[in-house]
Amino acid sequence: MTIATVPDHVLARVVHIAADAILCVDEAQVICFFNDGARRMFGYEPAEAVGQPLSLLMPSRFHGKHDGHVRAFGHGESSARRMGERSLIFGLRKNGDEFSAEAAIARVPTAEGTIFAVVMRDVSEQRQNGALVQRALTDAENAVRDRDDLMGLVSHDLRNPVNAVKMLASALLHIPSDTSATRLPPSAAEHASVILQAATQMDTLIQDLLDVTRLERGQLRIARKPEAIGPLMATTADLLAPLASARGVALETELEAGLPIVAIDADRIAQVLSNLVGNAVKFTPEGGHVRMRALRRSGGILVVVQDTGVGISPEDLPFVFDRFWQSKRTDRSGAGLGLAIAQGIVRAHGGTLTLESEPGRGTSALLTLPACETGGTPVS
Ligand SMILES: Nc1ncnc2c1ncn2[C@@H]1O[C@H](COP(=O)(O)OP(=O)(O)OP(=O)(O)O)[C@@H](O)[C@H]1O
Ligand SMILES: [Mg+2]
Repeated sequence: MTIATVPDHVLARVVHIAADAILCVDEAQVICFFNDGARRMFGYEPAEAVGQPLSLLMPSRFHGKHDGHVRAFGHGESSARRMGERSLIFGLRKNGDEFSAEAAIARVPTAEGTIFAVVMRDVSEQRQNGALVQRALTDAENAVRDRDDLMGLVSHDLRNPVNAVKMLASALLHIPSDTSATRLPPSAAEHASVILQAATQMDTLIQDLLDVTRLERGQLRIARKPEAIGPLMATTADLLAPLASARGVALETELEAGLPIVAIDADRIAQVLSNLVGNAVKFTPEGGHVRMRALRRSGGILVVVQDTGVGISPEDLPFVFDRFWQSKRTDRSGAGLGLAIAQGIVRAHGGTLTLESEPGRGTSALLTLPACETGGTPVS
């Protein structure tokens, strides 16, 4: 197969229709060629531009500097410069607007002297978009920081009054009943108990908001000590037993023999377990089961919290660890923060937390924790 040679007049046509501005200047810096791209970029007709000095196309503050550059390039070793090899240049349109451009330049010797061929690309829009994106990014970062500062501040300052309400409601409920003069009438005791419940709920939410803020800033403090997981699981089960029985859900705990000691912050891991078991109970209908098991695994332990509840659909599963996310299909009490915090805590321990679920059949939360590095004694 023979390949056709492209005649010069075809090449000239290609140069003419190129999207970039292509122009040539002679040794005296006079424009001698101006393609259609240059016409669109600068706003001059080729007939207007050809024969004019190149300085017509650049802001006057660059005239002197540019002459120096051209002279240096004219006598320098390199005969071509590609786009992006030199810093941006500025062009001047016929209507007086300035724009930034990238340029490639070649020095071509001809029988009549040297010709400088220049290819220019207008990058002002691109740069403007880049600047807009950068500004939007900075604004978003500032907004997130402001929100977290506010969340931290508000949560912190709310804690004292809420704790005062909790303490006083609890004091009212615990007035000794031996003196009839100080005994609360039953309706007042009932109100005090509702106040205590509501204030406790508020306190939990405030603590969760503070935890999320700390996690986000990498400020969640974890104080690890060698611990056995068994007692922690027992405490969690005791704590949630009243809720489980009120909802008609059976709650059982199982420990494999010979579990290693783990290096954990007991309060934080208790918080994780209580959210996992709390979720399991919350999303399991009456008559269901929740089983919390601890198993030996190489390098540590695996805790599985398994329920026979409503489950999570495959579309929802990727979002369960997002802050404030709650499925539209389930009971939306709570704030949707529990799993996000739990995962942050577990990761800070070098462990993992994942969820597996089958809609309609139940969910399993799988929590791994590394064994104590000092090789704690197995607990039987
Ligand atoms: N065991 C489970 N069974 C079914 N859905 C679950 C289970 N665990 C979590 N989910 C779904 O994931 C969502 C997020 O759980 P997460 O613990 O983060 O928040 P929450 O329990 O709704 O509120 P919070 O924990 O802040 O009180 C839940 O609202 C629920 O839709
Ligand atoms: Mg929860």
